Order: sequence, then C-alpha cells, then structure tokens
Amino acid sequence: MERNSVWRATAERQRYATLDSDLGVDVAVVGAGIVGLTTALLAQRRGLRVAVLEAGTVGGGTTGYTTGKVTAQHGLIYADLVERHGDDNARRYADAMRAGIEQVADLASSLGIECDLTRAPAVAYTRLPEQRSRIEDEVRAAARLGLPARLAERTDLPFDVEAAVVFDDQIHFHPGRYVAGLAAAFTAEGGQLFEGARVTAIDEQRDRTVELTTRAATVVARQVVVATLLPPGLLGGYFARTRPSRSYGLAVRLRDEAPTSMAISVDTPSRSTRPWLDPGPNGMIVVGNGHETGTEPDTEAMYADLESWVRATFDVEAIDYRWSAQDYFTPDRVPYVGRSPMSELVLVATGFQKWGLNSGTAAAMILADLLAGTDNPWLPTFDAGRIGGVGTVGRIVKDNLKVGQELLTGHRRDPDSRPAADLRPGEGGLIDVGGNTVGGYRDLEGVLHTVSTRCSHLGCPLHWNPAETSWDCTCHGSRFSPDGSVLDGPAVRPLGRPPAD
Ligand SMILES: Cc1cc2nc3c(=O)[nH]c(=O)nc-3n(C[C@H](O)[C@H](O)[C@H](O)COP(=O)(O)OP(=O)(O)OC[C@H]3O[C@@H](n4cnc5c(N)ncnc54)[C@H](O)[C@@H]3O)c2cc1C
Ligand code: FES
Repeated sequence: MERNSVWRATAERQRYATLDSDLGVDVAVVGAGIVGLTTALLAQRRGLRVAVLEAGTVGGGTTGYTTGKVTAQHGLIYADLVERHGDDNARRYADAMRAGIEQVADLASSLGIECDLTRAPAVAYTRLPEQRSRIEDEVRAAARLGLPARLAERTDLPFDVEAAVVFDDQIHFHPGRYVAGLAAAFTAEGGQLFEGARVTAIDEQRDRTVELTTRAATVVARQVVVATLLPPGLLGGYFARTRPSRSYGLAVRLRDEAPTSMAISVDTPSRSTRPWLDPGPNGMIVVGNGHETGTEPDTEAMYADLESWVRATFDVEAIDYRWSAQDYFTPDRVPYVGRSPMSELVLVATGFQKWGLNSGTAAAMILADLLAGTDNPWLPTFDAGRIGGVGTVGRIVKDNLKVGQELLTGHRRDPDSRPAADLRPGEGGLIDVGGNTVGGYRDLEGVLHTVSTRCSHLGCPLHWNPAETSWDCTCHGSRFSPDGSVLDGPAVRPLGRPPAD
C-alpha cells in the first residue's frame, strides 16, 4: 500500500518555477489549491493581471488529499442553516453551492480537463431509527431551498439504511487532475504561477498597495487573495474562529463492482464513499474517522479502524493508497469569504468544513466579483468579517478556552521523555537531550532529528503523529515535519532545532 493520496500519485503535474525576482501585479493569490486557482483564473478573465504564489506545489494542500465529491449535499446542513441563519441566508448558501457545482462542470468541459468528471447521486444516510426525523427535516428544508433533494429508504450500499437524503446529479472527479488543468489554463491565458514561494508576511502599504514577502523576492499587489486553507500567522484572527479537523482516506479495489453513488453516513464514526474510476468499476474511495488535529495519539489506529470497516462491509481485493488531510470548521457552519477585517485590500476564504471543492469554488466566484468591483448576491451570508450571534460567540469562547488551557498546561502534561537511544528507526516522540525535553525522530537510516516542541505559531505544545511522522498542534492545526519545516499553517516559521546531543 502506498502512503500517499491517490490523487497526488496519479495526476501528471507540470512544475512551475520559484519566484526569484520582485514583481508587481493587480492581484496576488496566495495558495494554489482549488480556491486560489479558481479565483486566479476567474479574476484574470475579468482583465486583471494575476500572480499565484504557492508554498509547495500545485494541489499539494488539502485539495490533493480530499474525497473528490463536488456536491451541495454537505452531510445534513440545510435544516440547521435555516434554523440558525434564517431562510434568506440558507437560500443564498444553497444557490452558491449549486452554482459551484456548475462552475466546476463548466471549467472542466470548456477547458477540456480530463478529470473523470462524473454525475452521480449524493446520499447522506442514517442506520439509526432515532435519526430518521433529522433526514426527513433535511429533505424538506433542502427541497424548499430549490435543491434536488428526495427521501430514500434504499441505497446501492451493501447494508440496510433507516433513511437517506439523496441529491441527484452531483459530481465526483479526480481533484489532482482538475487543479493541474486549472493551473495549466491560468498560465496559458497569461497568468504567472510560482511554486516553492511561501509567503511569510502580508503588509498593507501607505500607498494602498499590499506587499508580500517570500524568501527570495517581494510582490507588490493592488489586492491580495489569501487562499491558504487557513490564513497564515495572525491574519484576520481566523485561527481563533475555526477548528482544525483531520480525516483518513483509502483507495480500495473490490472483487465486485463498487456502489456508483457517493455516500456519507450521518452517524459517527463518519464513513464517506465514492467510486474510484482509474482501476475500473471495482474501485472505491473511503474516507472517515475525523478528529481535531493533534488530539489522537494513535493515528495508526484510525487507518486500521477504517480498513477493518471496509473489509467487513465490502469484499476487498486490495488497498492501494492511504492518506490523511485536514480542513477547518467555523462555529456557525458557514465558510468565511470576502474582505478580511484587517484590510479591505486583503481577501480571504477559509473554513470549508471538508466541503471546499464545492464551497471553495463558490467562494472563488464571490472573490472574483469582489476583485473586479462587482456586487455578489451571496456575499452577505459568507461575509468574512462577521462576528455572529450569541451561539457563535459562545462556541468561539469555548474553543479558545480549550486552546488557552492547552497553551498553559499542555507542556506540563507531557509524558516523561525517553532517552534518545530508545527511539528505533521510524519512531518519534519526546526525548531527553542533556536534561531538556525535545522532539525526536529517528529516520530509517538511523539519523536522529531533533526539534523544539513549542509551535512556532503561538507556542502551544506539539504532539507526535506516528502515522504521518509529523509534529501536530492541537491549538490551531499547524503541522511540522520531523526536521521542523512547516507542513500546514497557520505557522509560517520552522521549528527551532536544538542540538541532538
Ligand atoms: C479528508 C478530506 C476529504 C475531503 N473531501 C471533500 C469532498 O469530497 N468534497 C469537498 O467539496 N470537499 C472535501 N474536502 C474539503 C476540501 O478538500 C477543502 O476544503 C479544499 O480542498 C480547500 O481548498 P483550498 O484551496 O482552500 O486549500 P488547499 O488545497 O489546502 O490549498 C491551499 C494552498 O496554499 C498553500 N499555502 C499555505 N500557506 C501558504 C503560504 N504562507 N504561502 C504560499 N502558499 C501557502 C498550500 O501549500 C496549499 O497548496 C475534504 C477535506 C478533507 C480533509
Ligand atoms: S497552530 Fe497556533 S499555536 Fe500551534
């Protein structure tokens, strides 16, 4: 089994140069995931000069590690949106999501992107009789908002369900090939795209431009779009208004044909499935076991549990790939999209709650309108500057108390460190070096790598993630490789590297 996302392993990718000289543009987009690339392409088509700055490679963020469903069905959400935000907001959300699906279909078809785009029903089901009324409420709410929702009591899954809400005519695709196609179209149409260009500072200047700092060069832009999953550093305070959550994925070949629907359980633990077309009709993707980043000490057990479920439920021939990834949740279930409270020249899109292929595409449509100075009818619902009602603020306060607790007591709660010599090749954890506790990882060649386990974002303690061999932060989801380099933000600086002896 390959420890890599199937979408990363099976997409041909063009390489793009890094940024090595200063640049001036109308719009600088930070991040080349689905949000950044869609925004860049749509904004460029409005006549703006656009450059994309990507820290790693195109599609190398969460977009390359997703399930690959593009659907307006985000688990059970519409009844809840109506209750929390009222009819108008719920309708704008539904309209934006429907448009996001069609935007993906239009771009794939008009640009000729071969990404296995397939229409299929999306099914959200429960197996528990006590959850039936939630499904029925969702069908009613979604249908009233104009979505193609219907109630079903049978699915093409190999087990009985109590009830399901089905949205017809949704999409699944190969997200790696799709974003590679967006990047190729963007550059072919005149856009500039740089890989290996991590932005470490975003500063508004007195002359109403914004300066972006990368290791080798500076970019000056009239407007900036921050499409980095979560804005880096302290930008807009989004790190304190969202929660990071990871999930685990498998690409599986069955002995029989896989279900052709895309399905997700609303019961916990969550199980999400969809066809995987590369190996033929017996291919299937399974994703599940979500938990907040850094909170699960035994991440190998998350894979093992998902694997035992898929083997118990389907006739499995082989599991070819496994991977995990994260996304951010907002307290009121709606992503933050629009101008950041920090500067009206800086636009953000974050908090996609594991549905950002759809909502991120809709976000890009909103951002392209804002960049071009056009009104967008969905903006009031997604407004990136909103504070929210009492419930939302209460949730934020609760989350931040938890973070404060981790910051204050997390370092003290550390289990005893071990002598470095106890770490076997491939193992990591807290070790004692000269009386100090540091993070250690012994690589497969036997070399010991040591890092400070104080997160470079705001100093929370880091936790070893054995399945991904990374140091993960519970507070806001930053992640670091064993040599201390940043894997996931909001951190932008590498970890300190204390001596190994
Ligand atoms: C396991 C899992 C399954 C999912 N399944 C689905 C699904 O089926 N359907 C769906 O709609 N959504 C799904 N999602 C959610 C969806 O994948 C994400 O919401 C979406 O990909 C987010 O796109 P993005 O462009 O905002 O972020 P990303 O794809 O993460 O892109 C951000 C980019 O910014 C770059 N970057 C970060 N910091 C900097 C910096 N300082 N400077 C420069 N570049 C930087 C990163 O390297 C990255 O390439 C899933 C999420 C997870 C975790
Ligand atoms: S991510 Fe904020 S302190 Fe670690």
